[in-house]
Amino acid sequence: MHRGRPSPTLADRMPTSSHHKARRRQFLAAIDSPVLLMAGGWISRNYPANWHPFRADSTFLFFFPDPEPNAAALFDPKDRSVTLFLDERTQADALWHGPVPSFADVKKAIGVDAVEKRADLKRLVQKKCGRRSVRTVAIADPRATAEARAITGDKVDFFDAAKVAHADVVAAIAKLRCHRTSEELAEMRRAAAVTREAHTLAMARTRPGIYEQELVGHVEGTFARHGCVPAYNTILSVRGEVLHNHAHDNLLHETDLVLLDAGAEAASGYCADVTRTWPVNGRFSPEAADVYDVVLAAEKAAIEAVRPGARYRDLHLLACRVLAEGLVGMGLLKGDPDELVASGAHALFFPHGVGHLLGLDVHDMEAFGDRVAYGAGRTRSKQFGTAYLRLDLDLTPGMCFTIEPGIYFVPAILRDPAFRKQFRGQVDFARTERFLTMNSLRGFGGVRIEDDVLCTEDGHETLTAAVPKERIAVEALVGSGGA
Ligand code: GLY
Ligand code: MN
Ligand code: MN
Repeated sequence: MHRGRPSPTLADRMPTSSHHKARRRQFLAAIDSPVLLMAGGWISRNYPANWHPFRADSTFLFFFPDPEPNAAALFDPKDRSVTLFLDERTQADALWHGPVPSFADVKKAIGVDAVEKRADLKRLVQKKCGRRSVRTVAIADPRATAEARAITGDKVDFFDAAKVAHADVVAAIAKLRCHRTSEELAEMRRAAAVTREAHTLAMARTRPGIYEQELVGHVEGTFARHGCVPAYNTILSVRGEVLHNHAHDNLLHETDLVLLDAGAEAASGYCADVTRTWPVNGRFSPEAADVYDVVLAAEKAAIEAVRPGARYRDLHLLACRVLAEGLVGMGLLKGDPDELVASGAHALFFPHGVGHLLGLDVHDMEAFGDRVAYGAGRTRSKQFGTAYLRLDLDLTPGMCFTIEPGIYFVPAILRDPAFRKQFRGQVDFARTERFLTMNSLRGFGGVRIEDDVLCTEDGHETLTAAVPKERIAVEALVGSGGA
């Protein structure tokens, strides 16, 4: 993880420096004006010197191993050069943060054309680029973005996906970041292996009477033991119907379901994003078994359909159809599954999209918005549920994404008067009310199953296949104690 200065073993990092060099060359070949990229800097928690852990912007991380806080890089297609800008080395750094490689060592290890002082960024960019227009990319760190805007004059805005960067720059970045090389895949597999260990340990340590936080400790402790960090805020809850539930203060009751959505981010920045759901007492109730089996069938059907040329939205609709069929079987929906999906009735139970791109960001390149995630001429559906579909590309080999259907019993949706009116012929609301009030009035909660999938030349590979998800395997693990 990029926690500060690069380690002296920078040259040994994965992906290798030749991988990063190749990625930078590809980018230089794809742009026709200079591009200034910022890594971002330290963000303070409370007083200036108490920092949040540093995490470089993902595009910067895509091109450089273990970026230093405050680093910047100028890509110039005219002479095909890359200049890296780093803070000057000071004695205070050596005292508080340990030895730091010299500019000459960094230049050699990373293989850039020059390493310059960060303090000279503006002067040297203007000197090198003269009157040519220079592009940049807005990043999460507002100070770095403001500085890049001031230097380049490029009016980028991190909070407006249409203005994060010029369309040509977005296209050049997306073309590269959309497809994994073998070295990137090795990192994603590493994150997947650590994530498997975390999920299985949480299942094994589950028992009634403990708090969710204790299991979060096992999950995040596993990440830390392997030099990883959570790729996003861990969701571990018996209130799985709250989609991004980040509170961990519930007590686990015998009859609750635990939903864990957690993924490790490797030191390289590549990550996993996995969800599993299991019963606290190690035995799915008949209702939970039914719901679980339907979600698993939907997940498997969507994964099975992954191949080059498949349209991601069709995977979403396929999952919706399997869910609708299962919900009809349980008496929760009424009617023909295709018509239920067409009207959007299924979304009262599955109110989100079936997944998203995955890579250095858990929702990879989401900052660039639908310019990247939707194919040319494609726009988002306005229908409740499918409106949250974050991806609608035709799949090509090398793409990584999640498949994550779920069924949730959300009081705010299932008791919404407008939905009750709109779907009264298609949803059995008396039956949904039983799900909302079961489990000693705490309600059923939700089931989601999420895996990370690679589109390959001849189909797909599930990178997270080793995380148990068959009902019997999950039941056998829950409460078993060990890792
Ligand atoms: N972990 C967030 C998601 O699954 O999209
Ligand atoms: Mn996900
Ligand atoms: Mn997830």
